[in-house]
Amino acid sequence: MDYHKLLENAKEVSKNAYVKYSNFEVGACLITKSGKIYSGCNFENSSYGLTICAERNAVGSAIADGERIISAIAIYSPKKRDCLPCGACRQVLSEFQDENGIDVITEGDNDIIVRKLDELFPQGFIL
Ligand code: THU
Repeated sequence: MDYHKLLENAKEVSKNAYVKYSNFEVGACLITKSGKIYSGCNFENSSYGLTICAERNAVGSAIADGERIISAIAIYSPKKRDCLPCGACRQVLSEFQDENGIDVITEGDNDIIVRKLDELFPQGFIL
């Protein structure tokens, strides 16, 4: 799928975010190596630390469907241009990449921005 469309999907799912406490909606849409698409939004909790980020929500759906390799993930927030994944999500994403790495797509000023996860998160923890 075209990366612009992937970001559009992320935008669409961000509308479902449950952000009662931060009011900061995030949507993520990823594509796996096999070409399947999974989306997720963030959802918060009265016990703040239990909040789940949009990216990890999307990764969880992919894993539950049997997928193991992520090729690209688009992230969108209506509250922040170029909304990059938090450190925890970077570590989680790094678990599911192959030698081609993962493209991280965000919204730039005029066009999408594409970065490699390795650039954002070099030398992550691996057992
Ligand atoms: N959030 C995400 O969904 N993804 C990130 O990578 C960073 C933060 C969410 C968590 C919380 O619901 C809100 O954004 C504000 O931190």
